[in-house]
Amino acid sequence: MSNTKTVVVTGAGSGIGRTIAQVLAERGWQVVVSDINVEAAAATVGTLAVAHNQRHESAELDVTDPIAAATVADSIADRLGLDAWVSNAGISFMQKFLEVSVEQFDKTLAINLKGVFVCGQAAARAMARTGVAGTIVNTASMAGKQGKVPYLSDYVASKFGVIGLTQAMAFELAEHGIRVNSVCPGYVATPMQARELSWEAELRGTSPEAVRAMWVDDTPLARLEEPEDVAKVVAFLLSDDAAFMTGEALAINGGAYMD
Ligand SMILES: NC(=O)c1ccc[n+]([C@@H]2O[C@H](COP(=O)([O-])OP(=O)(O)OC[C@H]3O[C@@H](n4cnc5c(N)ncnc54)[C@H](O)[C@@H]3O)[C@@H](O)[C@H]2O)c1
Repeated sequence: MSNTKTVVVTGAGSGIGRTIAQVLAERGWQVVVSDINVEAAAATVGTLAVAHNQRHESAELDVTDPIAAATVADSIADRLGLDAWVSNAGISFMQKFLEVSVEQFDKTLAINLKGVFVCGQAAARAMARTGVAGTIVNTASMAGKQGKVPYLSDYVASKFGVIGLTQAMAFELAEHGIRVNSVCPGYVATPMQARELSWEAELRGTSPEAVRAMWVDDTPLARLEEPEDVAKVVAFLLSDDAAFMTGEALAINGGAYMD
């Protein structure tokens, strides 16, 4: 096995996950780009910076599937060494609380929260088995710290769960030297955000442009967040600069929510 460190990023076929993969590759990480959409994952691999010692690859992974997650984690641990795992995959769907179906609630919780459990367990088991003091980062949200978020009750519940689960994982995995933290982005310009702009505009009876302006207005640093804003903080959390940080939920939101 080489000295190059290897990281698996979930949901890395789009948006924030794709940019996390790009920033980590630029910083010397060998990246396993995973997504439920394997074509999108392969497309991300094609955008990654490659130095002589990096061999990036893609992997099809539905984060709700424990057998698939264990297969990816074990295969990477045995072939390349598993140094880090970023559980970034997530979905959102906007609906008034009174209209949210139980099926929608279950689906959001399955991908956003159970997926973090399933992947975190697979990654930590592989790291512990191979004696690697690795790092895990989970993508929560500023909607994981406050419920004053319109039309996203199932999502809010899932992201509060991610922050709690991150703390519990950090507490129990410390004895293996594994650090676990979460990031809490704000209004990030991605395909997910484009969908939310249309939904929120429809639910409020206004235009997507008006909703975008509201979001910028809600952000003291006065712009929408870029995926790079999140990816650079993930890179920091995976680095030795964050060697004594575990169980944290780092806000990256331009001041839209301060706690
Ligand atoms: N965009 C924002 O404003 C924002 C804000 C806070 C947090 N987040 C979180 O950041 C993460 C990434 O969001 P994004 O905006 O890049 O979304 P996105 O929709 O652009 O990308 C999400 C990716 O996850 C993949 N995915 C969906 N279900 C999956 C599954 N079951 N298994 C594996 N992959 C799956 C999709 O195929 C897609 O490639 C999510 O966890 C999201 O909740 C986003």
